[in-house]
Amino acid sequence: MRKLSYFIAASIDGFIGAPDGKADFFMPFVTGDFLEYFRTECPDTLPTMARRAFGVDDVPNSEYDTIIQGRASYDLALDIKVTSPYAHLREYVASRSIKESPDAHVEIVSGDVVARIRELKQEDGLGIYLCGGANLAGQLMDEVDELVIKTYPVILGAGMPMFAAEFGIGEFALDSVRAFDNGVIVRKYRRKL
Ligand SMILES: NC(=O)c1ccc[n+]([C@@H]2O[C@H](COP(=O)([O-])OP(=O)(O)OC[C@H]3O[C@@H](n4cnc5c(N)ncnc54)[C@H](OP(=O)(O)O)[C@@H]3O)[C@@H](O)[C@H]2O)c1
Repeated sequence: MRKLSYFIAASIDGFIGAPDGKADFFMPFVTGDFLEYFRTECPDTLPTMARRAFGVDDVPNSEYDTIIQGRASYDLALDIKVTSPYAHLREYVASRSIKESPDAHVEIVSGDVVARIRELKQEDGLGIYLCGGANLAGQLMDEVDELVIKTYPVILGAGMPMFAAEFGIGEFALDSVRAFDNGVIVRKYRRKL
């Protein structure tokens, strides 16, 4: 079965963005050995534009071949006139307001998103990258098999949580911890069965 991985950038105090979701203040930390980590170990997770900029556009997928994001997260691409931001992956966007996909490569999921993810997990292939945001991740919280949390060395005090969900305890086992020169830490967890 394919795994659903929530691969997410967060502050030290656990927020994935400002209260309105804005998260561009994490970008200046994508430098040095942390940038090299993206280029060499997880190019699948980079948007197509970044893959081109980092010279990894031709690298075959190794970890993920599918992405799902909420419509508000997809809006960030639409705002810059990019309709297929992850062209190297099968792209799914959850939305009830988008009636027709702006791009043939992007499938809109308007029905039961949990059921769709369960179907996708049953298919053969690489992992499914859950991009966010908090709203979509909150609904998929019980479906997340792996967490990859990139913790940036900032605190925000308030902001968008990792999951917009009701209280509930989900237990995960720590797989690895990596620390980078600029203070970013990447932790990988898998769900305890
Ligand atoms: N730190 C990071 O790594 C990271 C990663 C990703 C995103 N973000 C941030 O997250 C922010 C957006 O997060 P968000 O929580 O506001 O929104 P979101 O989860 O990206 O999108 C929410 C939208 O998804 C659609 N949706 C959600 N559940 C659905 C369902 N069951 N069926 C159909 N459609 C569904 C709805 O779209 P409609 O209104 O069209 O129906 C809903 O308004 C962005 O500002 C971005 O910066 C941060």
